[in-house]
Amino acid sequence: MSIPRLPRFQATRFAKLSARGHVGRSSSQREDMKTIAIISQKGGAGKTTLAVHLAVCAHLAGHRSAVIDLDPQATARKWADKRRDEPEVVGDHAERLPFLTEAAKNNGADLLVIDTAPNADRASLMAARAADLILIPCRPAAFDLDAIAATCDLADLARRPAWVLLSSAPVRSPLVEESRLGLEADGRRVAPFVLHQRVAFSHSVIDGRTAMEFEPFGKAAGELRDIYAWACKEIELDSRLPGSKMRKSA
Ligand SMILES: Nc1ncnc2c1ncn2[C@@H]1O[C@H](COP(=O)(O)OP(=O)(O)O)[C@@H](O)[C@H]1O
Ligand SMILES: [Mg+2]
Repeated sequence: MSIPRLPRFQATRFAKLSARGHVGRSSSQREDMKTIAIISQKGGAGKTTLAVHLAVCAHLAGHRSAVIDLDPQATARKWADKRRDEPEVVGDHAERLPFLTEAAKNNGADLLVIDTAPNADRASLMAARAADLILIPCRPAAFDLDAIAATCDLADLARRPAWVLLSSAPVRSPLVEESRLGLEADGRRVAPFVLHQRVAFSHSVIDGRTAMEFEPFGKAAGELRDIYAWACKEIELDSRLPGSKMRKSA
């Protein structure tokens, strides 16, 4: 049976973030909280997998991270129910995004990840507009690549930096490079790292973990760390990964 994490519809959302405190921080308020929105109108593209992995990567690196789950299917929330550790995941309607974003900030989050439903609708647009960085996971397969245009148009509408991230890619397949070239020819920006199809991504989440916890030195964990470090650079957040030289601009 899952443990209720937060009272529903209260102003104390993300209370766990503040309740746990943070070493070395004088104030829990994060004026510089960064937000990543994961959008794609295609179901099964890897949105939730990416959202929870990025949030956990930040958490393991010593950041406070949180996830807003806008998908009525509540996949990220169900994953969090099986987990006993951060990141905190809350779900709501997109109309409540400004409130939830503010709550995460007030409760000390450094990184907020917004997971969305498989739509290119108003809710996804609101998530995109709330973001410092939009990631659009996409399988390198014809039907998926065809379906990505609406999501990319929505990201353009939001006027936020947006990148397509090739996800669930077959290992050592020419499809990856072909997809990248095709997307770039269409004027899309494609993230320099790829998430390959790896069992650690799908197996680890069964009991509320991630690939980094399931197999810390595995290939899936390595790929995710690369993407996390790259995304942190894009949003000017110190990744806090060993060897990271990133310093926030003044
Ligand atoms: N890189 C990957 N390697 C292996 N399985 C993956 C990968 N990304 C996602 N999956 C699996 O694919 C399915 C759909 O992923 P999910 O993240 O739920 O997509 P979305 O949120 O876009 O619908 C899930 O079963 C998930 O475990
Ligand atoms: Mg999902």
